[in-house]
Amino acid sequence: MVLAVTIIVTGGAGYIGAHVVDALAAEGRDVVVVDDLSTASEARVGDHPLHRFDLAAPDATARLTQLLGDVRATGVVHLAAKKQVGESVARPEWYYRQNVGGLGAVLEAARAVGCDRLVFSSSAAVYGEPAGGVVDEDARPDPINPYGQTKLVGEWMIRAAARAWGLRQVSLRYFNVAGAGRPELGDPAVLNLVTLVLDRLERGEAPLVFGDDYPTPDGTCVRDYVHVADLAAAHVAALDYLERPAPAYDTFDVGAGQGVSVTQMLTAIASATGTSVLPQVVDRRPGDPAVLVATAARIRTELGWEPRRGLDDIVASAWSAWRAQREAGVEPIRPAR
Ligand SMILES: NC(=O)c1ccc[n+]([C@@H]2O[C@H](COP(=O)([O-])OP(=O)(O)OC[C@H]3O[C@@H](n4cnc5c(N)ncnc54)[C@H](O)[C@@H]3O)[C@@H](O)[C@H]2O)c1
Repeated sequence: MVLAVTIIVTGGAGYIGAHVVDALAAEGRDVVVVDDLSTASEARVGDHPLHRFDLAAPDATARLTQLLGDVRATGVVHLAAKKQVGESVARPEWYYRQNVGGLGAVLEAARAVGCDRLVFSSSAAVYGEPAGGVVDEDARPDPINPYGQTKLVGEWMIRAAARAWGLRQVSLRYFNVAGAGRPELGDPAVLNLVTLVLDRLERGEAPLVFGDDYPTPDGTCVRDYVHVADLAAAHVAALDYLERPAPAYDTFDVGAGQGVSVTQMLTAIASATGTSVLPQVVDRRPGDPAVLVATAARIRTELGWEPRRGLDDIVASAWSAWRAQREAGVEPIRPAR
């Protein structure tokens, strides 16, 4: 039996992937999820078909080729990857195998069946520590850790496939992703500022500020936050973009184009959660640029994408999702120290 499925979402059980699945389904696209559930749970996939396997395993190309053919997939949104920077520094070989190897399997399978649309999850980590801190896609990528390197290599790989066999591809370089589209879809990973702070507040610990002597208006680092539901909408816009006769660009920064300092974020979180715990200032972390903010001009003009949700929405939705996860017994995923 041939299903009327068009889009494969790898990593569709994950934090961002589940939002992408929601966004595609809301636009009337059929979705099939491929995920090994290594950092996710089946519950997030809902009624969409889930094929559980490791994209970095030796049989991944064969399994994915079979699946893409069976469902006559017209496109792939490839989010499946490992994303812990510290872990990537400790285990670079494994990160390359997971992130680059997994993408290799996707490309081989897509080529084998002639599935020629791909949206790839890249990251602002490709920029490293850019001078000035406000970047656009013309800034020279210079990742400073293996995680960021695997994303840049991924961009090169899909561009090479575009040249070799006509793959139509777009890399979305996500900036700081936070919030939740629904309380059940919160971010279980304690890796970004919002969940780091919520986790510490829940444990009765003061939020940590890694340095308050940066050359920024309040001395704390400045980042660009995008609501995960807005980010998901960017994937739908990117797939539409690939239908144009001659897309002009293949990399897009996805950010709000606005800087938010650590202190501003802590104030927003204190207000949303009703807490008044004083933060504790500790040493700077190596590899933290003072400012990393996108202009986000290209995605607005080319994809017609705009962030619709602001900082208050990001924080309020993250907080209600955090509580919902605790009530559901979902444990936070904390990086190994
Ligand atoms: N969260 C962020 O702030 C952020 C920022 C920039 C880029 N990204 C990228 O976005 C993507 C999604 O990130 P996320 O935050 O949703 O993380 P996540 O860990 O919640 O999602 C990743 C998903 O991929 C699956 N997966 C991982 N390795 C796999 C493999 N080898 N085979 C099959 N499935 C596998 C996991 O089970 C999980 O469902 C990743 O590529 C990540 O690098 C995330």
